[in-house]
Amino acid sequence: MTFDQWMRASLDRVETALEHYLPGTDVAPTKLHEAMRYAVLGGKRVRPLLCHAAGELTGAGSQQLEAASAALEMIHVYSLVHDDMPAMDNDDLRRGKPTVHVQYDEATALLVGDALQSQAFVALTADNGLSAAQQASLTRELALASGSVGMAGGQAIDLESVGRKLTRPELETMHRKKTGALLCAAVRMGALCGEEPDAAAMSALDAYAAAVGLAFQVVDDILDVTADSATLGKTAGKDAKDDKPTYVSIIGLDASHELVAQLGRDAHAALAPFGPRAGWLGELADLVVNLVH
Ligand code: IPE
Ligand code: IPE
Ligand code: MG
Ligand code: MG
Ligand code: MG
Repeated sequence: MTFDQWMRASLDRVETALEHYLPGTDVAPTKLHEAMRYAVLGGKRVRPLLCHAAGELTGAGSQQLEAASAALEMIHVYSLVHDDMPAMDNDDLRRGKPTVHVQYDEATALLVGDALQSQAFVALTADNGLSAAQQASLTRELALASGSVGMAGGQAIDLESVGRKLTRPELETMHRKKTGALLCAAVRMGALCGEEPDAAAMSALDAYAAAVGLAFQVVDDILDVTADSATLGKTAGKDAKDDKPTYVSIIGLDASHELVAQLGRDAHAALAPFGPRAGWLGELADLVVNLVH
């Protein structure tokens, strides 16, 4: 199977899983359920793909990976919907469409985020082929990665940093929390859907995910400067306009590009113990690194 074929098959499974785990638009309250699906539509599905690729290393079943992937994407979309709201980044374009609070209203956007977050844990604890012990550990992974020591904590640092010049270590901490934590959880949860990896394998996967997770937000910072809104499907140039600390504002564009390339090499180095079995994870690291072009 080529990487493209694997990607297409995995993406199909992710769409099927989201369809399965999102409440139907015929279920009351229909406007909320419509808005949840509106928010989920589109996107690169990077976290579900990482989850699937990690799961292949541990022999995870597709039903289990579908539940974990749907949960990860729902948490991610919740973070985007809230990130775009006026009290946060105040953006009106996301995934090539008006943001949820623009298309609907602010109260709906708040509830879409809340409900997607809850629904993620419904998916993880459904009749999904995961054992009770696996459900508990995946629930804990996702809760930690998205809460105040993970994504939400990183978002808090982001908001309190507007207009301040962060040191590079502070910036790295912010990025690792707001974006890296959920990407790390995607890899760990995928692996935990199969036979539990030993400590050495888990720490190799953590090292891989830490590199890809940081690279992903550095790429996002670069694209905010170098790409246009049509390509991004979200408003370009927004970070500089809002005086957000980013890798580009703190170390410059060239050094940011170099850092992404180095993180790509770090990700591959971390996979060495797995040999060719980690092929899809290696390809996904390249995919993230190549998003800058
Ligand atoms: C955007 O995430 C926000 C970040 C965490 C950098 P993605 O780039 O994964 O957005 P979608 O899911 O493809 O829309
Ligand atoms: C978002 O970071 C991180 C999240 C947890 C959503 P950004 O604010 O840079 O993401 P975009 O650029 O709006 O997608
Ligand atoms: Mg933001
Ligand atoms: Mg934003
Ligand atoms: Mg951004």
